[in-house]
Amino acid sequence: MNPSQISAPGLPGQPHVAYRNGSLHVEDLALADLAHEHGTPLFVYSKAAMLSALAAYQRGFAGRKALICYAMKANSSLAVLQVFARAGCGFDIVSGGELDRVLAAGGDPAKVIFSGVGKTCAEMRRALDVGIACFNVESEAELEVLSAVAVQAGKTARVSIRVNPNVDPKTHPYISTGLKGNKFGVAHERALLAYRRAASLPGLEVVGIDCHIGSQITQESPYLDAMDRVLDLVESIEMAGIPIHHIDFGGGLGIDYNGDTPPQADALWKQLLAKLDTRGFGDRQFMIEPGRSLVGNAGVCLTEVLYLKPGEQKNFCIIDAAMNDLPRPAMYQAFHQIVPLSPRNEDASVYDVVGPVCESGDWIGHDRQLAVQAGDHLAVLSAGAYCMSMASNYNTRARAAEVLVDGDKVHVIRARETIADLFRQEKLLP
Ligand code: LLP
Repeated sequence: MNPSQISAPGLPGQPHVAYRNGSLHVEDLALADLAHEHGTPLFVYSKAAMLSALAAYQRGFAGRKALICYAMKANSSLAVLQVFARAGCGFDIVSGGELDRVLAAGGDPAKVIFSGVGKTCAEMRRALDVGIACFNVESEAELEVLSAVAVQAGKTARVSIRVNPNVDPKTHPYISTGLKGNKFGVAHERALLAYRRAASLPGLEVVGIDCHIGSQITQESPYLDAMDRVLDLVESIEMAGIPIHHIDFGGGLGIDYNGDTPPQADALWKQLLAKLDTRGFGDRQFMIEPGRSLVGNAGVCLTEVLYLKPGEQKNFCIIDAAMNDLPRPAMYQAFHQIVPLSPRNEDASVYDVVGPVCESGDWIGHDRQLAVQAGDHLAVLSAGAYCMSMASNYNTRARAAEVLVDGDKVHVIRARETIADLFRQEKLLP
């Protein structure tokens, strides 16, 4: 029987990841088979999960002028970009490198918006040359430099100013970006001044306004508050004679890592758009920059248990994935579920699940109930966003391979790095 015909409920937050006949699957494929064939650590993504996350946004925006710009920092692997480009998405980029990835994946530069506080002149020039949709300018100084670069190139840069609405997104401090103390955006109080300056500069054309208040947001209220603050500004900017054609509300919608209950994208956007209509801005073009919510729960990371190390105070389950592959726990004390690919019918013990990197911060999960033996395979869940794209080579560890599952087919989208790859650019002394 085709495994997809066996109905099995997906794991919480990851409907495309499910146990069937005692074995964990992504779409129609058994993860144990993928681990044996491709080795571990291995990132496995579900194409259907990505497209179904995107569909929720598309439903929310039905009948509106809207552009969904995937914030590719969440997962910038070329094949992942291809999935979203083919589905009609634009991209939110934060570097010249990300722009080159979009182009290499066949993305449309006319649907690219360029965010980030530290764009270089060379990056601006390249973005102008390929004709991106808009620069999301993050400071008054950047306006001056961008105008000069555009004039020199004989072009006009379309700009939106990222305003900082000073709203608390109620998330981890490292991933909250819309508060006064953050380095991002132009302060609400200075925004009108910055818009007047932008409108007067020869190399710029003001087209929009944007904000992004943080990431892994699980409540509606910060979005509604930020929207009110941004719309107040749109009113005053337009009163000053500067038309705002598009409004970009950034990304930030959270996912279910551990029983989290973020709003659904379609429901949230219906509510936000109703507010826009009420305030008389329903006719504008909308842009959004979702990252995590499109890919986070479309991916898992497979890993092998290397050793079990019982201790007086703690038992350790040492796996072959580490903080260089999965940096979120070490960086943000983030929680990822860890589950066996083939559960054992044995009593579980409590383990700290840790990697081989020589740092006490190299943990993937604390105090997890697991029935495991060395040689077993585990899946670290919700690993589609900000894992591979943040992976490093610390401890001279090669980065993992990545595969994309599409029904009963699997595509290797990134070969495992080799150790030779790691020091190819290095030179010995003469
Ligand atoms: N737009 C801008 C301007 C951003 O800075 C970000 C994320 C996004 C959009 C996408 O946000 P999302 O929809 O993914 O929440 N590494 C951290 C998250 C950093 C987010 C940085 N900015 C983590 O692993 O939790």
